[in-house]
This record gives sequence, structure tokens and C-alpha cells, in this order.
Amino acid sequence: MLNYVHEIPTKLYFGKGQISHLDEILRSLGKKVLLTYGGGSIKKMGLYDTVIDILKKGGFEVTELSGIEPNPRIESVEEGVRLCKENNIDVILAVGGGSTIDCSKAIAAGVFYDGDLWDMVASYHGTLKALPLVDILTLSATGSEYDGGGVITNLKTHEKIGNSYTYPYASICDPTYTFSVSKYQTASGTADIMSHIFEGYFSRTEDSDLSDHIAEGVLKTAIKYLPVALKEPDNYTARANLMAISSVACSGIPQYGKQDTGWPCHAMEHELSAFYDITHGIGLAILTPRWMRFILEKDPSCTWRFVRFAKNVWGLDGDDEKALAIAGIEKLEEFFAQSGIPKNLTELKITDEHFEEMAAHANDGNYLKDAFVALTNEDIVEIYKACL
Ligand code: NZQ
Ligand code: ZN
Repeated sequence: MLNYVHEIPTKLYFGKGQISHLDEILRSLGKKVLLTYGGGSIKKMGLYDTVIDILKKGGFEVTELSGIEPNPRIESVEEGVRLCKENNIDVILAVGGGSTIDCSKAIAAGVFYDGDLWDMVASYHGTLKALPLVDILTLSATGSEYDGGGVITNLKTHEKIGNSYTYPYASICDPTYTFSVSKYQTASGTADIMSHIFEGYFSRTEDSDLSDHIAEGVLKTAIKYLPVALKEPDNYTARANLMAISSVACSGIPQYGKQDTGWPCHAMEHELSAFYDITHGIGLAILTPRWMRFILEKDPSCTWRFVRFAKNVWGLDGDDEKALAIAGIEKLEEFFAQSGIPKNLTELKITDEHFEEMAAHANDGNYLKDAFVALTNEDIVEIYKACL
């Protein structure tokens, strides 16, 4: 078990009705609020009106940035920074999914960044000085409500880059706000949560039991409740469990004491989104089982991990280790297919045209040499091809 240092400064307000704390949280941070949101889902579900009502009653001065895109663009970050500077904003209130929260984190840091904002996104810096950020989460997926990271896209240069900006000061996580999430985004979000676990679970560290048990618990929760949420979108227990695992999965806690793996499926997926603007979790669900099959073939010494996955997550058993490992991967494929996730990249109209360029970028500077099983550029191209 490796050493670790961990701090999450975000205060989570989890559960029905927690928006009652919004006024007091914002009041402690300032008067001038930049309200950020996406393409309008918060208006359809009535949350926009609720928020505006609280802000008006509280006497807050509100500036709005709407239309933040899924896979948020650098242009939205630039616009947000301009609005913050022009209106002397004290605090950002992000209402939405990971894209709105990520974009708002980059805006919060961008206000203090001296230089080109794409340079801020593209160069590693650690968390930065930033405006305080409060969010109201509406989609269980990324864990952005409980981490410092944000992912920003530059479609002109086909780059999608994750970096750390700032942690939310507070996150309001009311599962009822996710009742309106479509089946497609619910399945995609759950695949993202599961991938955040896989990226750390599949590591060479054998003796970090707590992390492994937490990881398996998150996966089993996802497997139990995604089908329920798909069938009954307003099932509170299902939505609440999915929201709780969203925050835990990307928090770093399920990776306590474990080797850093470089998050290979995320590295590969960000290239798919950068080139084809696809939904993050869908790309991950297509890539993950192919990556699993590939590494199992490339390096059979990793079979033990897949055996554990098959036994502890899917409840499978058997004496033939290779067969058991493959059976676990097949169960995962079946689960994603039953959740309505597209089966391959061809369904998303993606061809092999850019695979080499994407692989080189995903593996920039041999980035994935420390992955659970090291990946070369050629390996990545093969994994992409298996996804067609
Ligand atoms: O834009 P609106 O109208 O709000 O609609 C959104 C969007 O179309 C909709 N939606 C959100 N909440 C809803 C809703 N529709 C109905 N009812 C609701 N309650 O869902 C669509 C997708 O929203 P988005 O915010 O893009 O989804 P998600 O939360 O999956 O975020 C994806 C982004 O986060 C990044 C991804 O790469 C991607 O750019 N990630 C961020 C991470 C982080 N900060 O730690 C880690 C992740 O691995 C990930 O890379
Ligand atoms: Zn993710």
C-alpha cells in the first residue's frame, strides 16, 4: 500500500431539499453572482426559476452565462472570464452537469490567470487561485462536484484537456434534480462513474484492500441501480445511490494507496470527444471492454485482477482463470448493451481516419507507460480499431 496525502475542501449538501442552504452558502461568499448553466435543461425542469427566486429574495446581483456546451469549449471559458471581470463577480454558481461545473472551474481560475486562457488549460499547474465556486448538480456522472478537475475542449485544434483548477466551495446534490435526465445520459453517466473506478481498480497494487472494497461497492451499486433508474426515472433510491457514487468514484478515495495508472481509457476517450464531440461516458463504455480484452491478451500476468473483478463484482466462479476473466468482461459488455449504450464507434459514425494521430496524442510522451499494462501508440490504435 503506497503513501497518500488527500484533502477535499468541498462541503457536500446531499439529499432532497438541500437547496434550502443556497442562500446562506452564497451569502458567506459575496453579493455578485455569475450564474452558469447549459443548454436549457434547468429551465425545463423548473430549477432555474427556483434558483432565480432564491437569488432575488436574497438581494443578490445576478449575471448569467448560459449555453455551456457538453464537452465545454474554451470560448465559453473566455466569455465567462470576461463577464466576471466586467461585473466584478464575487462567486460563481454553476447549475448543471459536469460540463457546466468544469467550465465554471476554469472560469473561476481564469479570472486570475495572467495570459492566454488556452495556455492555462493546456499546461499543468495544480489548483490555482480562483473565485469561489458553488454548484447545484443535475447529472450523476463526472464527480466534478467533489474534485478539483475540469476538462475543456478546443474543437479548432482537436484538443480536449483535463486539468486541475479549483474545488467547489460547496456542492448541492439533490437526486430529485436528476429525475429528468434522459436514459442515454443516465446510462452514459453511470458508465463514466464505473470507468472512474476501473481506472484505479485495474492497477498493480495488490494490498490496498480498503480501496478495492470501496471500488467493488461502487461498481455493484451502479450495476444494481442503473437498470432501476432507466425503468423508473423518478425512483429516488436509485437516483440517490447513483448520485452518491458519482461523487465518491472520482474523489480519489477509491484509489487510496494505489499506483497511479495514467487512466488509459480516459486518455483514449478524450481523443474521441476532441475529434468527434461524442458523449464522454458513451466513448468510455465502448472502449473499456475492448481495452480489457486487449491487455488481458497482451499481458496474462494481469489475469488475477480480472478474476477478482469477475468474482467480487459479478459473483462468478470457476477454476479456469482465463475463462473467468473473460466472463467478467462479457458481463460488463452485456450490462452496457442492456443499458442502451451504442455497441461500437461505427454506430457513432467514427472511422479509423484519425486513429494514429489520436493515439499519439493520448500517449503523448509515453504517458501510458505506467498504465496497469503499458500501452504503446500501436496498442492504442489496435484498441480503437477493435471498437469499430
Ligand atoms: O446543457 P443542458 O441543457 O443542461 O443539458 C445537459 C446536456 O445536454 C443534459 N442534462 C444535464 N442535467 C440534466 C440534463 N438533462 C435533463 N435533466 C437534467 N437534470 O445532459 C447533457 C450532458 O451534460 P454534461 O454536463 O455534458 O454531462 P456530464 O455530467 O457527463 O459531463 C461531461 C463532461 O465532463 C467531463 C467530460 O469529459 C465531459 O466534458 N469530465 C469531467 C471530469 C471531472 N471534472 O472530474 C471527469 C470526467 O472523467 C470527465 O472527463
Ligand atoms: Zn470520466
